[in-house]
Amino acid sequence: MSVKVNCLNPIAECGLEMLTDQYEITDNLDQAQAILVRSAVMHDLDLPESLLAVARAGAGVNNIPLEKCADKGIVVFNTPGANANGVKELVIASMLLAARDITGGIQWCKDNKGDENIAKSAEKAKKAFAGTEIKGKKLGIIGLGAIGVLVANAANRLGMDVYGCDPYLSVEHALNMSRDVTMVKTNEDLFEMCDYLTVHVPLLDSTKGMFNKDAFDKMKDGVVLLNFSRDTLVNEEDLKAALESGKVGKYVVDFPNPTTVNLPNTIVTPHLGASTQESEDNCAKMAVSEIREFIENGNIKNSVNYPNVDAGVCTTDGRIAIAHKNVPNMLTRFTALFAKDNVNIENMVNKSRGDYAYTILDICSDSTDVVVKELEAMDGVIRVRVIK
Ligand code: MLT
Repeated sequence: MSVKVNCLNPIAECGLEMLTDQYEITDNLDQAQAILVRSAVMHDLDLPESLLAVARAGAGVNNIPLEKCADKGIVVFNTPGANANGVKELVIASMLLAARDITGGIQWCKDNKGDENIAKSAEKAKKAFAGTEIKGKKLGIIGLGAIGVLVANAANRLGMDVYGCDPYLSVEHALNMSRDVTMVKTNEDLFEMCDYLTVHVPLLDSTKGMFNKDAFDKMKDGVVLLNFSRDTLVNEEDLKAALESGKVGKYVVDFPNPTTVNLPNTIVTPHLGASTQESEDNCAKMAVSEIREFIENGNIKNSVNYPNVDAGVCTTDGRIAIAHKNVPNMLTRFTALFAKDNVNIENMVNKSRGDYAYTILDICSDSTDVVVKELEAMDGVIRVRVIK
């Protein structure tokens, strides 16, 4: 029987082409085993019992009910880094757009296209659109994940003086970052000294509204704030006051909403950060390969609600994957079941993440019907899948 995949948003064709004959794209969510999604909001969706996995072709997962999914044994993936270059390029472009009134200048040329002496008039008019250079200015980066590090390196190469803050900086990202980037301990350290601030953190309860009056008060006068993460990281009422007073010189935001589009000294783009052909292709391919790896081998890579688990390809007679609660005695009870039937466990991988855990068991038996029923009935077990 084929694995049914439902796309809640259009997903790049090159990703869908990676689905083999074992898979079938369905418009019917009720039958889906896997969902591919971009920004569609899933919080109010009725998730079908058949659903095993959701892959977000993108980084932000605030549109997906992670806890509800985990509780039903639905593994949610994202595609970290796949669209980072696209976002980086727009962040760099946005700093340049904020430094000079390039869009105002372009508009002036359009408005004056009937002027036969436009070349001469332009020389007089251009001072209204002049500005500053970004070279030598201090850039503060809040969040040095895949995007933050690329922005740091590119800004450094453009001659900016780059500072970063990330208490969760991974070894991988640290190794990829230019040594010219200066790390600071707190966001406040960045606020005090930076001419430009760019934020690259996920939207969480702990980050929502992190840019508020208190933060703006600590910033350098006339700072440029760039937000390509999520609009609700910013308290927009406080920001409006800071823009009106000139405390914040300019706000560049990739999230149009009824407030942002009416803010003074603000450049709004229509969630364009990752909307490049390359980013969409990379995200689609990564999302589909995560789904395939999970469906075909039971392995979890880049999950945001279950631990990452890699047991490779099964070389024994059978493989069982179990999503379960992270509580005492689960493994003892699993192994006791197999011992009772004299089934040898050849390999076992178990990982936990918060309240949830995931175990892959490679066994020397392919008759698993009885044991699966017993596992499913076990307290704390959320979902059991026979992979092989
Ligand atoms: C992301 O979270 O990856 C970005 O917002 C881009 C997108 O959703 O398309």
